[in-house]
Amino acid sequence: MKLPRLAYNFLSSVGATIAIIAGLLVIVMLLVSVFTAIENPYLGIFSFMILPAILIFGLILIPIGMLRQWRREKRGEKLDRPKWPYVDLNIKSHRNAFFIFLIGTFFFLIFTAVGSYQAFHFSESVKFCGTTCHRVMKPEYTAYQHSPHARVACVECHVGPGAGWYTRSKLSGAYQVYATLVNNYPRPIPTPVENLRPARETCEECHWPAKFFGGMQMELDHYLYDETNSHWPINMLIKVGGEQGTNEATGIHWHISSDVQVEYIARDHEREDIPWVRYTDLETGEVTIYQDENDPLNQEEIDSLEPRVMDCVDCHNRPSHIYHSPDDALDLALSTNLINPDIPEIKIAAVEAMAQEYETEDEAMAGIRDYIIDYYKDNHPDFFDSSQQMIKMAIAGTQEQFSKNIFPEMKVRWEVYPDHIGHFYFKGCMRCHEGSHSSSKGEVITHGCNSCHLILAQGSGETYEVTYQEEGLEFKHPVDIYEAWREMGCYECHLGTQP
Ligand code: HEC
Ligand code: HEC
Ligand code: HEC
Ligand code: HEC
Ligand code: HEC
Ligand code: HEC
Repeated sequence: MKLPRLAYNFLSSVGATIAIIAGLLVIVMLLVSVFTAIENPYLGIFSFMILPAILIFGLILIPIGMLRQWRREKRGEKLDRPKWPYVDLNIKSHRNAFFIFLIGTFFFLIFTAVGSYQAFHFSESVKFCGTTCHRVMKPEYTAYQHSPHARVACVECHVGPGAGWYTRSKLSGAYQVYATLVNNYPRPIPTPVENLRPARETCEECHWPAKFFGGMQMELDHYLYDETNSHWPINMLIKVGGEQGTNEATGIHWHISSDVQVEYIARDHEREDIPWVRYTDLETGEVTIYQDENDPLNQEEIDSLEPRVMDCVDCHNRPSHIYHSPDDALDLALSTNLINPDIPEIKIAAVEAMAQEYETEDEAMAGIRDYIIDYYKDNHPDFFDSSQQMIKMAIAGTQEQFSKNIFPEMKVRWEVYPDHIGHFYFKGCMRCHEGSHSSSKGEVITHGCNSCHLILAQGSGETYEVTYQEEGLEFKHPVDIYEAWREMGCYECHLGTQP
């Protein structure tokens, strides 16, 4: 088979060889991915991103080689040639090249279409996002798998539909890949995430205000730090609210209903310190500004800082990456019997073991084991001798809770990512609802305990109380703290370990 003379040069041959090898490999890889169940992010990156790039590189070399050859001949031979290469289909070599080009382009376009589709899908997959940079994404990926959104793809929240945000996310992703390769990424990854797509465009693909309604009953299981790890459940009706059935916004989701706009200015990047809040009634246009009486913003700060419109992530900032504190993780483990609540003082011992600072996960596993063994040897020697098996299982349970929630290599612990829902371990709602944010007319943002929820039942054993009354129960603190909870926030004493 004859090809145009110009094609016979070193560069074009190298290009053709590279392209053919890469093309064959792409086909093999496609077959592998179709016929086997191998799911490996590196295989995907190789077959859908790197190999096609090499293939295109090889293909580009072919015309470059031909062009160079053409120039060289023109210069060297000084022949009387036309300015541009010409194509004449009556010449056999030209005809062959033309058909090779035509058929090649046809197959190339098909492969490109399939390949780009695969590459697109692959770069949007949970596998790609969660496991490629394994070390970096381990905390997020692990917590995600144990969250209510474990079957929602990362990109549903982080990118959402549409080409614009797809491109933006891939561009910033390219920098992140670079940062990972040169190992200069921050540990832990800082939040709030810069340039996160507005939550209302992503969350509302699945949940939207018109569909929220009424209340939501929650049982929060607590275990006390005493000899018998006394169970102390708190059963609450949370006034989630929403617009279902009525057009009136009520309850907690009032903030995001259609005729309400709440904006705020935070002094810090983490949005923990919120001294200024503006509520606009979009129906009447009435505006109310609330300032924190204890620490208001001065005019200069108001002029220079940008207000942020409140949306879902101002409360639900941990919908998927929930890092439980040791206190919370132990309550969960005891209520599900992952750890046996009959072991004396196990909550005290396990919380303390889990909360220690460790350098690596391996060190933590050994540290937790040693801590719990020593604790029982020192404090309950008889129990230690008689119940080895129970203690072994408690150690395994504590280790499991540790590895689901704390990631020493990435410096991720519950404290570094405050959760804005509620007000138990973190300030959350109380960033605005502390009772000290007031308007010039003297209206104060509600602080009443019954405005957001009703306590339906609480207590332990003899002291357990239940109500069927509309006003709920008054909160009863499990241990006597001289009613300090009336003046102080729970989060000032409850930091995620034994208070
Ligand atoms: C239900 C929605 C949702 C899903 C699903 C989701 N994320 Fe997130 N992610 C968020 C929100 C909201 C934040 C926190 C935003 C903030 O505080 O600014 C976040 C934060 C992060 C952060 C910053 C560090 C941190 O822990 O807060 C990383 C990294 C991250 N997500 C990666 C992932 C990966 C990887 C997946 C898939 C395995 C994923 N996300 C799935 C909603 C989601
Ligand atoms: C692709 C669909 C999808 C998207 C996008 C999504 N969610 Fe969800 N979400 C779900 C599903 C499904 C559940 C129910 C899980 C269950 O019942 O176990 C859920 C549950 C929840 C819950 C209840 C959690 C609980 O403890 O029971 C909250 C709160 C929530 N989502 C908030 C959000 C927020 C905030 C966002 C945006 C950052 C978001 N979701 C984005 C599908 C989605
Ligand atoms: C003012 C804070 C706040 C804002 C803003 C907010 N939520 Fe919620 N949401 C809550 C609280 C509190 C609950 C009760 C559950 C809990 O405490 O975990 C809740 C519950 C939910 C639930 C579970 C409801 C159920 O009945 O199962 C979903 C889903 C949800 N929110 C989605 C959203 C979405 C989507 C947005 C944004 C459009 C949003 N929320 C905005 C505070 C908020
Ligand atoms: C950025 C400030 C801000 C944050 C954070 C915030 N709120 Fe509000 N909230 C307001 C403002 C302003 C009002 C309107 C004044 C009022 O009714 O007291 C309000 C009103 C409410 C109301 C009364 C709604 C009605 O029916 O009139 C409830 C309930 C509520 N918030 C619950 C919550 C909960 C629960 C959280 C935390 C998950 C929370 N808020 C976080 C600013 C905030
Ligand atoms: C602005 C709304 C709001 C106000 C005001 C408020 N709470 Fe809450 N509280 C919440 C929300 C939301 C949660 C649920 C958090 C969650 O999903 O775990 C909560 C949770 C709780 C819990 C359960 C904590 C846990 O994790 O077990 C108790 C107890 C409680 N609140 C008591 C009180 C008391 C007492 C007051 C009055 C001093 C009060 N709350 C005022 C919104 C509020
Ligand atoms: C002045 C500090 C302080 C404040 C404020 C406070 N607590 Fe406590 N809390 C404690 C102490 C101390 C214990 C007992 C710890 C022990 O047994 O060693 C405790 C124990 C508890 C327990 C049982 C153990 C656990 O961690 O699950 C619950 C539940 C609890 N508190 C709820 C609350 C709630 C809800 C609020 C806010 C409305 C609150 N506390 C405010 C100091 C405080």
